[in-house]
Amino acid sequence: MTIPLFYPYIPPQVEGELLDTLHSKWIGQGPKVDAFEEAFQEKFIDTGYQCIAVGSGTDALHLAYILAGIKEGDEVVTPVLTCTATNIPLLYLGANIKFVDIQKNTLNIDPDHLRKLVTKKTKAIVCMHYGGLPCNMEAIHEIAEEYEIPVIEDAAQALGAKYNGKYIGNLSDFTIFSFQAIKHITTGDGGMLVIKNKEYADLAKRLRWFGINRKAKFNRNWENDIKEIGYKYQMTDIGASIGLASLKTFDSMMENRKELYRIYQCHLADIEEIQIMDDFDEAKDHAMWSFVIATRKRKELENYLRLQGIESGQNHYRNDKYSIFHSFQSCLKNMDLREDQYLSLPIHPRVTAEDAIFICDKIHDFFKQ
Ligand SMILES: Cc1ncc(COP(=O)(O)O)c(C=O)c1O
Repeated sequence: MTIPLFYPYIPPQVEGELLDTLHSKWIGQGPKVDAFEEAFQEKFIDTGYQCIAVGSGTDALHLAYILAGIKEGDEVVTPVLTCTATNIPLLYLGANIKFVDIQKNTLNIDPDHLRKLVTKKTKAIVCMHYGGLPCNMEAIHEIAEEYEIPVIEDAAQALGAKYNGKYIGNLSDFTIFSFQAIKHITTGDGGMLVIKNKEYADLAKRLRWFGINRKAKFNRNWENDIKEIGYKYQMTDIGASIGLASLKTFDSMMENRKELYRIYQCHLADIEEIQIMDDFDEAKDHAMWSFVIATRKRKELENYLRLQGIESGQNHYRNDKYSIFHSFQSCLKNMDLREDQYLSLPIHPRVTAEDAIFICDKIHDFFKQ
């Protein structure tokens, strides 16, 4: 494949930072994890919030759900079209999942359908910013406030996105980010949990490490008891080193994504058979993790592009079709409509402007056949 759909972003600055860690005493969770949390907070998150670095976005989601108090039988409304990582931790907790339909034009959750699903029994609202395009947060928060329930944002694909001028991460009770191999920045695998209520921060840190207060343990003033069931959700200094170096070049990396997005948007605008999955809402700054289109000829286009050396794909499938979620199936008409139509095109630092123009030309050729 000449142009892959994804490619990890490892800027050259990573090597020095990583070697420094490899030659140090700390390769597991140590000072670089603290430094990464601080640098992440400084770049994206207001000081009123707390950033907790963890081993994956999935870990961050699981922790967020535990902290939100989701227990067996609790009703949670959550996106149907997302990485299964959004919803699998809810299965672990025994939650009663209510899948929210998508918006036809963005693939994000549809606030109108959300409103119909939320009841007095609902314990939390989960949303996911598909491809990096923020959901309609105002509408989501309005419902959450009415029912006095927390909002948990899965921003695994939305690092750097903004809503009403504020970085995603500064809006809701809990927001999670992922630093898995192909995300905006990577730590190999890793995630960040951002918590609004700082009172949860110490608990989150204990749960990240079996339920042990690690700082107190190192300072030899830990009472040698575990009162909460934690797990091993921590980030390592090896991962944090990659993340720290990548944060420094985040803005220039995003400039490239912005340019590619602009090229796709402008060169594909005149193809009637294609819809760009974006509402172009001025309140939203897209994180451009993927460029998503919808077309009735999705499968044929994907195969055609493959023959031209261009990889495209459907990154995620509707979760309700997986056997593990079968008991939570319901009627989702926009999802039924779009199920076989959406397609992501390559947009990452290895894609050049010339590549993007080449891809658009091939898409034009396909629809002219
Ligand atoms: C929307 C979404 N949520 C959650 C995750 C899980 O993140 P991780 O792979 O870091 O566990 C991912 C990516 O993998 C994702 O795309």
